[in-house]
Amino acid sequence: MMNFAVFASGNGSNLQAIINAVKKGRVRANLKLVVSDNPSAYALKRAKKANIRSIVVEPIGFPDRESFDREIIKRLEQEQIDFIVLAGFMRILSPVFIRKYPHKILNIHPAILPAFKGAHAIKDAFEYGVKVTGVTVHFIDEKVDHGPIILQELVKVSPRGTLASLEKKIHAIEHKIYPKAVDLFARGCIKIHGRTVKIR
Ligand code: GAR
Repeated sequence: MMNFAVFASGNGSNLQAIINAVKKGRVRANLKLVVSDNPSAYALKRAKKANIRSIVVEPIGFPDRESFDREIIKRLEQEQIDFIVLAGFMRILSPVFIRKYPHKILNIHPAILPAFKGAHAIKDAFEYGVKVTGVTVHFIDEKVDHGPIILQELVKVSPRGTLASLEKKIHAIEHKIYPKAVDLFARGCIKIHGRTVKIR
C-alpha cells in the first residue's frame, strides 16, 4: 500500500472524511502524516484523535517559499510519503515542491473549475448568482487551481438557499468524492493524458 500525507490549514473536515474512509477500508492507502502550516488548525486535533502523526511547519520561520517547501519535502521523505492530498491547505506550493511530486499531489476545490478559482470560491459563486456550482478534485500543477481534473460533481443552488446552506451542500459532496478520488489514485486506477484524466 502507498503512504500518503494530508495537508490542511483549518477545520479539516475533508481530512476527517478521509480518516473515516481509511478506517473503513474505503481508501486503500496508509495515511501516515498530517502537515499543517497553522499550529491552531482543528485538523491537528483530528489527526491526534485518530493517532496519526502530524507536523506543523510555519512559514514565518523561513526566508522564502522554496525553503519552506524544502523543509516539508525533507519531512515527507523521512516518512516515505508516496503522494499528497491537499485538503484546505491555504498556501500555494512552489515549483520546487510540485516538480518533486509530479502528478502526485491531489487538491479539492469547492467550485467547478475553471470557474471560481481562488480562496473564496463558494462565496464568489453564490454572489455571482450561479444556478449550479459544485466540487472539483484535480491534480496540482504549476498554475493555481489548474491541473488535470479527476472528478467533478455538480451542486444546485436553491433559489431560497443561503450562502450557509450552499456551503453545507458543497462540503457534503466534498466528503463523498474526495475519499473516492484518493482511493482511485492509490489503487492506480487513474491515467493522465495531457489534461485528460482517465479512470478505469
Ligand atoms: C474545503 O471546502 C476546500 O474545498 C477548500 O477549503 C475547505 C477546507 O475545509 N479549499 C479551497 O478553497 C482551496 N482553494 P476543511 O478544512 O473542513 O476540509
